[in-house]
Amino acid sequence: MLDKTKKDWWKSAVVYQIYPKSFQDTTGSGVGDIPGIIRRLDYLQTLGIDVIWLSPVCASPQVDNGYDISDYRDIDPMFGTLADMRRLIAEAKRRGIGIMMDLVLNHTSDRHPWFVQARQGRENPYHDYYVWRDGQPGRLPNGMQAVFGGPAWEWVPEVGQYYFHQFAPQQPDLNWENPAVRREIYDMILWWMDQGVEGFQLDVIDQIAKDPDLEITCNGPRLHEFLRELSTETFQKGCLVTVGEAWGADIPRARLCSAPDGSELSMVFQFEQMVLDQQPGKEKWDLAPLPFVKMKQSFARWQQGLHGCGWNSLFLNNHDLPRIVSRWGNDGAYRVRSAKLLAIMLHGMQGTPYIYQGEELGMTNIRLPIEQYQDLEIRNFYQKRRAEGCPEEEILRSIYAKGRDNARTPMQWNAGPGAGFTTGTPWLPVNPNYREINAQAEMADPDSVFACYQKLIALRKRYPVFVEGDFALHEAEHPRLFVYERSLGEEKLLVVCNFGDEATPWKAPDPWKNAQVLIENCPRQEGALQPWEARILYCGKQ
Ligand code: GLC
Repeated sequence: MLDKTKKDWWKSAVVYQIYPKSFQDTTGSGVGDIPGIIRRLDYLQTLGIDVIWLSPVCASPQVDNGYDISDYRDIDPMFGTLADMRRLIAEAKRRGIGIMMDLVLNHTSDRHPWFVQARQGRENPYHDYYVWRDGQPGRLPNGMQAVFGGPAWEWVPEVGQYYFHQFAPQQPDLNWENPAVRREIYDMILWWMDQGVEGFQLDVIDQIAKDPDLEITCNGPRLHEFLRELSTETFQKGCLVTVGEAWGADIPRARLCSAPDGSELSMVFQFEQMVLDQQPGKEKWDLAPLPFVKMKQSFARWQQGLHGCGWNSLFLNNHDLPRIVSRWGNDGAYRVRSAKLLAIMLHGMQGTPYIYQGEELGMTNIRLPIEQYQDLEIRNFYQKRRAEGCPEEEILRSIYAKGRDNARTPMQWNAGPGAGFTTGTPWLPVNPNYREINAQAEMADPDSVFACYQKLIALRKRYPVFVEGDFALHEAEHPRLFVYERSLGEEKLLVVCNFGDEATPWKAPDPWKNAQVLIENCPRQEGALQPWEARILYCGKQ
């Protein structure tokens, strides 16, 4: 168990993300719930994780699956009650697991009482909680577009103004310039800290300091001022782990956000590697092959760029990204081996690893008929491209590759009906491959993807070089090998990954010839690495 009174305890922690809607249903509603998470805590303890990041469970009309909150201090009835939540926090704590809540602070739901008031009139004290601009019906303040498509402005006749929304119209942006808004947010966070949560994930946090007149949404001029105030008023009063979602972060900015003095956050999610397989300057839907050499060099830059002066988060999946084994691995003949390679490649690095539910089983993408998709981003994208005359097959190809519902299909617990997720009809179909890919089968198999994750987590706890070591990229230009070295005094690791369906000649360089193998994903052969082979070598004290 980690010593969580130590300021930087989260540097040795492994976080597991739960998307509650798809994790475990206990009522037959087809939607996962908090009692379901409690039921699966033993599973998570067996895996070895330290923190659960819970995607939003607060009261919400669910326009964007809970990222549209209507009451920050209550639980959505679909997931249970506040009493269930308190029980989850206590039961998790008993197993040495902390709960990380998802804070959606950039916007609320349009049904939040603040917004209901705000739209009643310009004189209402809540009006200034949101971002408004004058205008006339049909004459938008400017041409800004929302992330989910359509204009970022919505007209409210009662006040004769437009409000600003970076996401869906039902997600009005909060006005962080207003100190009263910030105070409300801090009080709410302190209240959650009192409930015993041990961390927070901050949704789209780099978008809070916007200036719509200058068309600035990301990295606005007051961003770091706001983050420092937020941290002083809340997080620094406890010993918390915090991670901010920051699509716009580069290395210098991530250094500020994750400064070792704790003045802002523990770390950010940056997406530099995750946008490499799209056409530069285009939407994520505009697919491009993964530029492998760029990918590993980008990881190397971040590893070195934050070493000693910031902290990385390590992730390949979340609820917004397609399944990594289908994306960068091979989810056919080499599914198991490539899923393990991806895990080894990531968990050998410096940073706090995040495992997204089902990743530890090697769960894959899904292909559904268009009417079965639930995600509003997918639906909006489909309609827009259809209207532009784009052929159906091409649109579907993008959705199969990048749609967010790939990550949101129910957790595959066993080979029984509903994959053990629900006795009812799941809100999003279960992937038909649940008969082969499921937790029960993998827990019984010492060679499973699950066993590999379990082992990687244990290794990180045992050898300080995983947490503290520096990073050097080997074979920087090699088109298939991703090889890197970590070192901490006399302790050294060499992580070797053969990325692809072909064998690649390779011999361990000198100091590594007789090194101990900490983990590997297939039998070794002299002089070559097998397709998708990966291993971690170790030199140092025993
Ligand atoms: C973040 C969330 C995503 C959500 C969006 C708006 O990007 O991860 O799921 O749709 O914010 O809140």
